[in-house]
Amino acid sequence: MSEIKAVRELLDTAARPFEDALAMPPSVYTDEDFVERELSDVFAKEWVCVGRASSLKSPGDYLAYDLAGQPIVVLRDREGVLRALSNVCLHRMSTLLEGSGNVRSIVCPYHAWTYNLDGTLRGAPFMQATTGFCKGDYALPQIRCEEWLGWVYVTLDATRPSVAEALAPLEAMISQYGMETYVESFRETHVWDTNWKVLAENFMESYHLPVCHAGTIGPLHKLEEMDCPPGLEAFNYHWIIKDATLPIGNAHPDNTRLTGDWRRTTALMAIYPSHLVTLTPGYFWYLSLHPKGPGQVHITFGGGLSPDFLEDPRGAENLKLLKTMLDKVNVEDRGCTEKVYRGLSAAVARPGHLSYLERPIYDFMQYLAERTGGFVRPSFEPSAQAAE
Ligand code: FES
Ligand SMILES: [Fe+2]
Repeated sequence: MSEIKAVRELLDTAARPFEDALAMPPSVYTDEDFVERELSDVFAKEWVCVGRASSLKSPGDYLAYDLAGQPIVVLRDREGVLRALSNVCLHRMSTLLEGSGNVRSIVCPYHAWTYNLDGTLRGAPFMQATTGFCKGDYALPQIRCEEWLGWVYVTLDATRPSVAEALAPLEAMISQYGMETYVESFRETHVWDTNWKVLAENFMESYHLPVCHAGTIGPLHKLEEMDCPPGLEAFNYHWIIKDATLPIGNAHPDNTRLTGDWRRTTALMAIYPSHLVTLTPGYFWYLSLHPKGPGQVHITFGGGLSPDFLEDPRGAENLKLLKTMLDKVNVEDRGCTEKVYRGLSAAVARPGHLSYLERPIYDFMQYLAERTGGFVRPSFEPSAQAAE
């Protein structure tokens, strides 16, 4: 591995004990070289979430995604199989689909070479005189794509263990919520002016809720009721308790799966590298992040309700309440995370100590140090820890 100053600084910080832990050094957020390292050693190798399978329900439903510089398209094919394909034409290499939508076939916008939804080439106009051309030789390369509890993940790495295997300990911890039944009602993409890790870390701690979110969700939570256990190999997490003044944040009266404190407990999960999920008894929302240079982050933002709140006579009202609330919360988070990026880009920026409420950030730092610099993390004992 070539020597990068940011990697060296990250390794030094990651080696500190948690009781004396500091925030990550500014170079890790601002160095161009470090972003390159993240793309090659993290984003080109890990499973990255592109959204919910329920939003790719019908044959031809697709979404385009740029993964570590590689344009891909994730779609539902004619047989109902979820697939990911290279989104680069096999003629003169234009990209094919953009955004999201539904198509019967994939038609290149340049010269109309047309692909079936399984990636095989269906037709190429005016190629009959090219005797060396054989349609059957052409098919868009397949990209690995897996579904786990309703989420769709893709990876460019042929050898990565399956998502279900990597996240089995998480599945055991949250099975009581039935996350796979939650329905996505919106999915948007945004670009903010901050480093992807600043936003990821913002999600990993609820320490900022009473301050940054004083005008929205802050008053619903007590810092004293937050539980931030050490993370595991593929993810970190923490639990918070939501006040009953937000009914969709607590279990629906018809919900018999959740008992005791689980009825008001929210799970906040950071699945490495960049899939961040808030799961409450009544709703969920998520971010999936991808770096766009050091100073910008590409965000997939989506969410929806648990089936009981969705099917309730007030379902439409619940959805509206959720989206309005999340939009306001995002404005607050955007303000805080863009300020952090401006601050850590300053010459005077120095990392300070982390609170015990920021434990997941410490675990994330060690994960990143492992992936980018060969840091040896402590071994993990998979054990489900509950909030009760
Ligand atoms: S580049 Fe796609 S058809 Fe020519
Ligand atoms: Fe926040």
